[in-house]
Amino acid sequence: MGRPGRNAFNQIAGRMKNDGEVDFVIANGENAASGRGPSPEITQALLGAGADAVTLGDHCWDSREMVAGIDMESAVVRPANLPKGAPGRGYVRVDTPEGTVTVVQLIGRVFMQPNYECPFQQIERMLKGELANDKVIFVDMHGEASSERMAMGRFLDGRVSAVFGTHTHCQTSDETVFTKGTAYITDLGMTGPKDSVLGREVEPVIRKFLTGVPQKFDVAKGDPTLEGAIVDVDMKTGHARSIERVRIRLED
Ligand SMILES: [Fe+2]
Repeated sequence: MGRPGRNAFNQIAGRMKNDGEVDFVIANGENAASGRGPSPEITQALLGAGADAVTLGDHCWDSREMVAGIDMESAVVRPANLPKGAPGRGYVRVDTPEGTVTVVQLIGRVFMQPNYECPFQQIERMLKGELANDKVIFVDMHGEASSERMAMGRFLDGRVSAVFGTHTHCQTSDETVFTKGTAYITDLGMTGPKDSVLGREVEPVIRKFLTGVPQKFDVAKGDPTLEGAIVDVDMKTGHARSIERVRIRLED
């Protein structure tokens, strides 16, 4: 979320990657530019800071440069079930010393834009088609409703390594490994300023609720924190061994 989120990501995720605490990092870059969808420059900065893949979301076309340039971005993933004809790709494969990791993004339809294709049908087609031989698959289910994200997690149990939710900025405490070996969490939370309302300055948000008058929602600054989850995956089977929810404050 904005610059405080990028700083927290660069310093905390970058250190974890450098120290070998994690081998592979997926960043949801959805709100990385002042709370809006990132430009290619910002996604490149996240990739340079330690991310192996960057997912987007409903804000994927906020930056005109991203609309024009996403086809050239090799590790940037937009939702796979956007309306047909959208630029970019809904999954990427990244080769690592341990093996290939596939990152997919889907977007929900409950309380979201009505023109998205069905995410359930979409991933079903992909798992039977182009991803049929992929072993280690991470699915970012970007959505508003917890029910839709949880249903997706259950739907994909045993068929992908992990399903994690993004979009609501509120980390849930329901992380688990389902019985057939898929790690799951309804929402990873937010990497950004926690002294805020979902990353925005508090006062204008309250004023908007009180008066109904549109306000400028600047990104807040206080208490930058990294939130997310660490998943341990068996690279041979693609099944998850564990999932650990993380929340790490950036020390001043
Ligand atoms: Fe979103």
